[in-house]
Amino acid sequence: MSGIIKKAIFPAAGLGTRFLPATKASPKEMLPIVDKPMIQYAVEEAIACNINEFVIITGKHKRTIEDHFDYAFELEDKLKKSGKKKLLKEINRLNRFKIAYIRQGYALGLGHAILCAKPFVKEEPFAVILSDDIIDTEDTLLKDMIRLYKDLEGPVLALQQVPMSEIHRYGVIDGEKEWDGVYRIKNLIEKPKIKDAPSDLAIIGRYILTPDIFDILEKSKPGKGSEIQLTDAIKKLLHKRPVYGYLFKGKRYDAGDKLGYLKATVALALKNPELSEQFRSYMLEVSEGLKNV
Ligand code: G1P
Repeated sequence: MSGIIKKAIFPAAGLGTRFLPATKASPKEMLPIVDKPMIQYAVEEAIACNINEFVIITGKHKRTIEDHFDYAFELEDKLKKSGKKKLLKEINRLNRFKIAYIRQGYALGLGHAILCAKPFVKEEPFAVILSDDIIDTEDTLLKDMIRLYKDLEGPVLALQQVPMSEIHRYGVIDGEKEWDGVYRIKNLIEKPKIKDAPSDLAIIGRYILTPDIFDILEKSKPGKGSEIQLTDAIKKLLHKRPVYGYLFKGKRYDAGDKLGYLKATVALALKNPELSEQFRSYMLEVSEGLKNV
């Protein structure tokens, strides 16, 4: 499996309005979950799949993302001198990733952000990772999708069943079951109303795409929310080749939303070896307290 997908795109140019005022001057992707910014979880997920070339699509107020993955001489020197080896290793690791940055300029939507990466991707299949969809570190969603891509030789979108009350927040598919957990996609609608939703299968923030999507994106007109939508381009791709959906049954946190962000923080804090014991007893204390409210 190793090496079939070598490149990943991380769109990070959005305005992060759901987190204002926190995101007025700093990127949503840099909001920490326990001790790492969201974008770092996303990059590490790609590394775990042997992907080793990354492009982050950035925009205004996003410079701290570049700083985060850059060499920090003063800090590293200080950590070295004070003998903080473990922390030094952790910090030093971050500037070894090969990351390119492309500025989107105008926030014209997810489809447009992906199109910005065309000169970097060239003629290869690639992964798209939306960093505010946090996948539990014990799950192997992206690995499974890459395996499926290899078998089916077609684009693969991650899907999750969501309550109909939340369907308007997602791209939604209509598909035929190929086998358990794998769908051949027949149609896609970006953020439909409940009455227009063809199913409860929502696209979540992991995609394996092929470079023929760029030709379509180049000709795409703005769709929902007056943005160039990736979902619309994938719908057009259906005329050219089969596209598949992979139903994810593990844990995902929509950390682009305040409640999802809090849930991700609690879940990952409970798994953090340094914090889990104390945090667990604090959570028990809180839940006891809630019984009396
Ligand atoms: C984007 C996509 C949508 C997808 C979602 C997953 O929407 O446009 O199709 O379901 O990501 O998180 P956004 O959340 O950026 O509005």
